[in-house]
Amino acid sequence: MAFPKILIVTTLLALSLTSINAATILSPTPAPAPAPGPGFVNLTDLFTVAGPFQTFLQLLQQTKVIETFQNQANNTDQGITIFVPKDKAFSSLKKPSLKNLTSDQLKSLLLFHAIPKYYKLSEFTTLSSSSPVSTIAGGQYTLNFTDNSGSIKVNSGWANTKISSSVYSTDPVAVYQVDKVLLPQVIFGVAPPQAPAPAPVPEASPVSDISPSSHVKGSSPKSSDSTSSSSSHRISFGIVNWLALVVASAGLMVLF
Ligand SMILES: *[C@@H]1O[C@H](CO)[C@@H](O)[C@H](O)[C@H]1NC(C)=O
Ligand SMILES: *[C@@H]1O[C@H](CO)[C@@H](O)[C@H](O)[C@H]1NC(C)=O
Ligand SMILES: *[C@@H]1O[C@H](CO)[C@@H](O)[C@H](O)[C@H]1NC(C)=O
Ligand SMILES: *[C@@H]1O[C@H](CO)[C@@H](O)[C@H](O)[C@H]1NC(C)=O
Repeated sequence: MAFPKILIVTTLLALSLTSINAATILSPTPAPAPAPGPGFVNLTDLFTVAGPFQTFLQLLQQTKVIETFQNQANNTDQGITIFVPKDKAFSSLKKPSLKNLTSDQLKSLLLFHAIPKYYKLSEFTTLSSSSPVSTIAGGQYTLNFTDNSGSIKVNSGWANTKISSSVYSTDPVAVYQVDKVLLPQVIFGVAPPQAPAPAPVPEASPVSDISPSSHVKGSSPKSSDSTSSSSSHRISFGIVNWLALVVASAGLMVLF
């Protein structure tokens, strides 16, 4: 008798957990953690839910720069403006990589991604005329801004990028997404001149797939396709399993 009882309890638990989930999804705003103070913005939380900004967050935590940022957000009247590169910006960074940086250089590079003052987007027009603008890294770690009819360009000397979206902006904290990692000239030196447009292909015949069978012996696996389909398989498998458990348990409940 003990065995079916456990199953029934398990089912009831599963059902109640589901209704809790449903309630969470249905409520318009996620239940906030007890707010410690007015205007407190938890930057770790913000970087966790937005983005994906996992690489940036991980580097901020590893170097403890997150505490410098949080302190600037918490305890100053000026506030803070942070430029956050997406994970893709880090993974596509090839030429000067971050691998050989000393820990001090890495710290400076991260501090270079923030200005010790809150700026709303509309203020970047004014900020453009006061370029170069000091960052929290101090000294020669400056950024130039250009307002190109509403599109805000950010220039570190290396990365010529733009603000691609506003993640959060309420005094005293502004977080803007940028398309590239901002590389300071202080660390990487003067950037080489912009690469010219790829040279036109000379007389050699262009690569074509007119008769692929003559060149390719085996078929190449399409890795991205297989991963996406396998993950969706996993999800539906999970749902099917769960349904099976519920149906089986419900059957047992009827029997007893
Ligand atoms: C901020 O959020 C993180 C992640 O959710 C949490 O671990 C941390 O305790 C929070 N800090 C404060 C001061 O609330
Ligand atoms: C920021 O403020 C929160 C809430 O008052 C506090 O828990 C956290 O320790 C503060 N962090 C810093 C670095 O000042
Ligand atoms: C990093 O250092 C290694 C060894 O000193 C060197 O071979 C490599 O080219 C460096 N990589 C970059 C991106 O500077
Ligand atoms: C930033 O702007 C200043 C002043 O206009 C200019 O001298 C400097 O070369 C610029 N820096 C970069 C990296 O574009």
